[in-house]
Amino acid sequence: VSTRAPVTAATTGIGATRGRLMVGGPTPLPPEVAAAGALPVFDERTPAFAELFVRVTDRLRAVFGTGNDVLTFTASATGALESVIQNILSPGDRVLVASNGLYGERLAQMCRAFRVDVVPVATGWGQPLDLDRIAGTVAADPGIAAAFAVHCESSTGMVNDVAGFASATAGRISVVDAASSLGACELAADAWGIDVVAAASQKALMAPPGLSFVSVSPRAWSAAARSAMPRYYFDWELTRRAFADGARTAFTPAVGLFVQLDRAIDLLMAEGLAEVRRRHALLGRLARTGIAAMGLAPFAPEEWASPTVTAVRLPPGVSGRQVVDRAARDQGVQFAPGSGDLVDRLIRIGHCGHVDVHDIATAVNALELTLAALGQDVPVGAAAAAIQAAIAAETGGRDD
Ligand SMILES: Cc1ncc(COP(=O)(O)O)c(C=O)c1O
Repeated sequence: VSTRAPVTAATTGIGATRGRLMVGGPTPLPPEVAAAGALPVFDERTPAFAELFVRVTDRLRAVFGTGNDVLTFTASATGALESVIQNILSPGDRVLVASNGLYGERLAQMCRAFRVDVVPVATGWGQPLDLDRIAGTVAADPGIAAAFAVHCESSTGMVNDVAGFASATAGRISVVDAASSLGACELAADAWGIDVVAAASQKALMAPPGLSFVSVSPRAWSAAARSAMPRYYFDWELTRRAFADGARTAFTPAVGLFVQLDRAIDLLMAEGLAEVRRRHALLGRLARTGIAAMGLAPFAPEEWASPTVTAVRLPPGVSGRQVVDRAARDQGVQFAPGSGDLVDRLIRIGHCGHVDVHDIATAVNALELTLAALGQDVPVGAAAAAIQAAIAAETGGRDD
């Protein structure tokens, strides 16, 4: 991860000389993106920045699957999501929030923080969204102005059917948190009728944390014109006007992050967006193959399993924090524990962004060794064998 990664060979004793970042985000930087971070900072009031900003924005549109405006903020994904609430709603408005995990629940909390009335449509963590109940709730309440959902619910390793969600809430402004899916999972904002999609730089976009984005449909712009919510830094109209006026940002941009993101998008485009999605789907399948061979089960039902993060149910006798600490200390592999009440029942393996099949094999090996070191009866080597077989099966029969 860095020359000063917290885990070194000296501490692991097994010869792991690099920390390996296997959390849902931030994700590892490709070397080209890391190197771009070392370039000198330059003035944003220049043609060079304007050109960069336009190029990044145009290509982000392709990633979002939209012809609408894409606005960029210097903030993490939560900032972009906060901007949505501030710009399309007024205090006292009513919204539907669909949730089946931590980030769905957080959307509801954020709306309430801005005095927005929330109609929650929750299903249990790990259960799919209940689209019938969502459609019924919207139909029964014409006062619902907007509907919010999470695409990849990274707390549980699930991908929600946001195309179905947008249909179920058609007629209201649909808002999707795509922080953990944009770029890695299929997402077609316009074709699916999603008015607003929010995401950030530090996941599948393979850039450092610090930039976030929203795509804004004409209907969402109309709502922004009516909204009476106080706002300033995240004001969409200020942001749009600055962009229209010579591709500027309204406030000092994180210039270096734009440079790094531009380089990361070069890599995504060179690989091809469809290929990037295919690779993530494969990484998810391999992770699940490996953990199944270890006798463990993913938290998410297979049908909804995420290509970017796999939440693994732990056997009794080990806790999420214990496994995460031990794997980092001894193997140099950084996993994440579960979220919320599941903190100790799960670990989460991120396989998002600059990750390949061999990273999955390493991650699963490290997990197996860690569980064995913690006294669990795991068949050491089984996961590696299963993953090798799966990789061979995926690539078998090809001439190249
Ligand atoms: C689905 C989802 N939403 C929101 C967030 C919060 O993003 P940030 O920490 O960039 O504000 C995350 C981060 O993991 C996420 O996975």
